[in-house]
Formats: sequence, structure tokens, C-alpha cells
Amino acid sequence: MSAERWSPESWRSKPIQQAPVYPDQEALSDVERQLAGFPPLVFAGEARKLKRALGKVAAGEAFLLQGGDCAESFAEHSADNIRDFFRVFLQMAVVMTFGAASPVVKVGRIAGQFAKPRTNPTEKINGLELPIYRGDIVNDSEPTLKGRTPDPFRQLQAYRQSAATLNLLRAFAWGGYANLENAHRWMLGFVQDSPQSGRYQELANRITETLGFMRAIGLDPEEHEQLSRTDFYTSHEALLLGYEQAMTRVDSTSGDYYATSGHMLWIGDRTRQYDHAHLEYCRGVKNPIGLKCGPSLKPDDLLRLVDMLNPSNEPGRLTLIARFGSDKVVDHLPALIRAIQREGRTVVWSCDPMHGNTISANGYKTRPFDRIMSEIRTFFAIHHAEGTHAGGVHLEMTGKNVTECTGGARAISEGDLSDRYHTYCDPRLNAEQSIEVAFLIAELLKTTRTRSAEKTEAAE
Ligand code: PEP
Ligand code: CO
Repeated sequence: MSAERWSPESWRSKPIQQAPVYPDQEALSDVERQLAGFPPLVFAGEARKLKRALGKVAAGEAFLLQGGDCAESFAEHSADNIRDFFRVFLQMAVVMTFGAASPVVKVGRIAGQFAKPRTNPTEKINGLELPIYRGDIVNDSEPTLKGRTPDPFRQLQAYRQSAATLNLLRAFAWGGYANLENAHRWMLGFVQDSPQSGRYQELANRITETLGFMRAIGLDPEEHEQLSRTDFYTSHEALLLGYEQAMTRVDSTSGDYYATSGHMLWIGDRTRQYDHAHLEYCRGVKNPIGLKCGPSLKPDDLLRLVDMLNPSNEPGRLTLIARFGSDKVVDHLPALIRAIQREGRTVVWSCDPMHGNTISANGYKTRPFDRIMSEIRTFFAIHHAEGTHAGGVHLEMTGKNVTECTGGARAISEGDLSDRYHTYCDPRLNAEQSIEVAFLIAELLKTTRTRSAEKTEAAE
């Protein structure tokens, strides 16, 4: 199968899941032709740099933080939203870097995360059977036949929004806004306001002291790239393959094909059939690739997918994103880890504690904060037991003060969900809940680090 010739359009001859039905094929082809002539959003060299960084994660020398909206939307596209997300994300990264005492690779679910896989192709609203909402790049969430009919022109808007978002993110990441002292100051604001501030104070104080020490010895954050800039990468689910194909380019330095719609792409849990279109597309582009691993994935199937996506076992190419649910992770993850270890495959193991923990309450989809935390803890415990590296987390989060996931230090109740439930798809951690998760992970990373230092000492 993998020996068959690959081309950017070879996925078209395979069976496909989750593909929208466009009534106007001519308009669709026209849009895809336009996209194919547009500038790339990212460069191959950047994707390679991310792959090297993820290679370090696979080797246990770094940690991956991946997060952002479940689905970006056209209506919520604003500088404020991007800035608030970026600020929270950076604060999380600072806290986690300190806990791990190693680099945190920062990858947003942003600047391209528009297409959504859905359980049912249609839904009934007021007696009317309508196509399901598949994300702003495909159709409108408004429950009318007109709104829900897939419209190819939305792909052009998604491209432009991604370009504008990425432009601002690059400015933030490289223009001084992302300097370490800013991120630290924002984090202190969070700690001060948190009902659980006591818990975070110690780590926060240690970061304050470290920065004070660095200044004292003459390390000025404005003058050192490592302190004033940060590498920030983008990612999204490679779901809408016509769009991805149109954004695929040959890299002139290597002659290889790259997806230029984002730095990293992932394959969703619903579209990972080895002989279907999404695997076919992703195996041929050289970007870092993520693969969602849910409860139905058997160890042998995983190995087959790993062989297809990373036949040369290149470090950083493949991130396995475990999304089992807090009560199921212990039943499924160890067998997958053992299969990967047995075959000597190099992967990044990341934990998505969101998608296996969705429940319904008061008519809203929500996720209890405790279950999210519990899946992360179990993920770390399993990796400790297996002697492998708990390499990263994959979160749905926003910089805004929404009420979509229950629990957390401010104990959002099921009754509170209706207050600020703004997501276009799945419930996200709000700003405070996200930073709380980062503090938890920092504690887990620190424990891991202390344990491995003890092991090294004992061996010496
Ligand atoms: C997602 O990440 O938004 C998603 C749909 O995840 P999964 O494919 O794991 O269900
Ligand atoms: Co989601």
C-alpha cells in the first residue's frame, strides 16, 4: 500500500470519511485552483525546525504544549482573542518550562483549525433535516438550509483569516511581546487573583527569583533572543483534503512536498482508517504529523499506521495523541506503548485529556475539570510505569473567561454553563482553568525530573 506512488491528489482515489457534499462542484474546483496559486502560509524550513524540536520531545529532552480552540470561527476573529489566547498559552509554557527544566515546544491549534469531524451527517431542527455544521471553512452554524449547505468560498475566507492570525502571532512571538518578563508578569497576575493562589505561590516565587538573578548578573531580557523571542508553531486537523491539497507545495531546497497550511497537521480519531484518504494524504507530506489514538485503536492497527506515516522512523515526524477518557486510559494506553517499544519506533506521546471526557449537562456539552486532570495524571503514571516519556499535552482552550468546562478553582457549576458558553464546537478550558492545568503539569514534570535524577545518581 505505502509503496504505491503518492501525489498531492492520490487521496482522491481512496474511500473517504467526513467529506462535505458540495452542491456546486465547479465552484469548488475554482476555489481550489485559486488557493493553489496563493502564497504558502508557512515555510518547509519552519516545519523542519518543528520536527527537530519534536525529535527532542521524543528523546525525552523537551515537552510539547499543543492547544487552542476546538474550532476557530469567522465571527470571533479579532486581535483581542488572538492576544488573549497567546498570553495564556505563553504563561502556561513558562510554568511548564520551569517545572520540566527543559524546553517546551509551543504549538497552537490556531491559524487553520476550522474543519470539524462530526458523528452524524445531518441533524433535525424544528422538524427540518439539515446538514450538520462542519466548521466555518465548510458551512455556517446557523440552522437554515442555506447556512448549512457547504460553500466552497468559505475556504478563501479561512485562508485569509489564517494568514492574518499567523501574521499577528509571528509579530507577538518575534516582536518583543513574548519576552519572558512579560509572560512572568501576566502569570503573577493570575496567581494573585486565583482562589488557589497559595498552591501556585511557591513555583511563582521561584520563577521571580530566577528572573531577578538573571537581571542581577546582567542578562537583560530585551537584549537576548532566548528571552525576548519564542518559537510558536501552528497546527490543525488535516480534515478538508481539497483545501490541504491546494496548499501543498514542493519545497525548493529538499524537493519534498509540504503542507503549507500550517506547521503540523493531525489525523482525527474518526478518519484514521489505514486504507482511506486521510492516511493517504498525510503519508506524503513531510510535516510533523499527529495521530489521534482513541479507544477503538488496537496495537496492531497502530503499528500499521506508524509504518505508513513514518516508515524511516524519523524522530519528531509522528506524535501519538492519546484521547481515551479518564476512566479508559489505563485500559488502552499501556498496550499501545508496549507495541511501540517492542518495535523500536520513535514517537512523541501526547495526552489529549479533552475528547474522551465530554459529557452532557443542562443541554450543554461539557467536560469536568477533575476528569481532565485525572486523565493527565494517569497518562504520566502509565509512562512512568512503562519507562517511557510522557511527552506532551493537547488541549482545547481559550484566553477568554468562558464557562464551558465545569470545575476548576472557581468551581464552575453545571448551572453556570449558560453564562458564557461561546464555543463553536467542543467545550474549552477557560484562561484560569488552562493555567491551572499548566501548574499541575509543572508538578508532574518536576516529579518526573526528580525521579530520573535520583535514578542517575543511584546508577553512578
Ligand atoms: C478534535 O481534536 O477537535 C477532535 C475532533 O478530536 P478527535 O479526532 O480526537 O475526536
Ligand atoms: Co474538539
